[in-house]
Amino acid sequence: MLNFNKNICYAVFGNPINHSKSPKIHNFFFKKYNFNEKYIRICASKQFFLKEILNFFENGGKGANITLPFKEKVFSICTVLTKRAQISGSINTLKKNNIGIIGDNTDGIGLLTDLKYKNLISKNDNILILGAGGAARGIIYPLLKFGCNIYITNRTIQKAKILSKEFLKFGYIKYLKLNQLHKNKFQIIINATSAGISDHSSLVIPSNIFNQKTICYDMFYGNTDTNFMKLCKNLGSKKVYNGIGMLVNQAAHSFFLWTDIFPKINDVFNFLKK
Ligand code: ATR
Repeated sequence: MLNFNKNICYAVFGNPINHSKSPKIHNFFFKKYNFNEKYIRICASKQFFLKEILNFFENGGKGANITLPFKEKVFSICTVLTKRAQISGSINTLKKNNIGIIGDNTDGIGLLTDLKYKNLISKNDNILILGAGGAARGIIYPLLKFGCNIYITNRTIQKAKILSKEFLKFGYIKYLKLNQLHKNKFQIIINATSAGISDHSSLVIPSNIFNQKTICYDMFYGNTDTNFMKLCKNLGSKKVYNGIGMLVNQAAHSFFLWTDIFPKINDVFNFLKK
């Protein structure tokens, strides 16, 4: 069992977790808004992560973020779900209150806020999502609601099929096999596979779906370009982004759930660059 210091009230749980910038962002917010709380990262055991999260909340934890590979697996410890967590089937934020544990998903709204802020997205855009796991689940609903058409492909195509069926009631969504991709035009391609983190991608994307204007967005990030970003640049795209903007925006929405304060985010980017 993990032992927690008294003012460690917030944490991100994942495995692996060393890459996470969430502690930096949230500790920045807590300091800025004069909270005497700490946010740490916890590498949870793949077998006992539910127990570890419950242990955290029993020992003074007030809120948590959940990341790879647990986002679809924490439902059983939630007492209440927000609508966006319910619809997405994926949870990235937990909050403890006197009723129990609230499960929320701020990934989708975080991504959409960033795409809008960067002026990258328009209604009716065709968006290709690579991947059909928890990360993909979290972003589909807000993109559909915004009015985009979603195409989804995945190494295991059956999972893309299931996901597209599930979200059909919210808008235009279709799954495509790799050999069908070239028949479509995509304004935005989003990497929602965990390939960059674990190993190299075995999802071989046809090069002819990229052009200079294709917006390529990796939901993940690193200190340098991710494998997906390198690939997109090599294939000619001039508009390639990592997921830092999404990360900061989803964090802001989580912080709001925990504290009722929506933090200003502009100065966080400068802080992260340092
Ligand atoms: P998460 O819930 O965080 O999204 P996940 O459910 O394990 O994690 O899903 C990870 C996604 O990345 C899946 O779409 C997975 O493809 P499969 O469904 O075929 O497993 C994809 N993925 C992981 N490693 C990959 C790799 N090396 N190449 C291509 N796709 C990969």
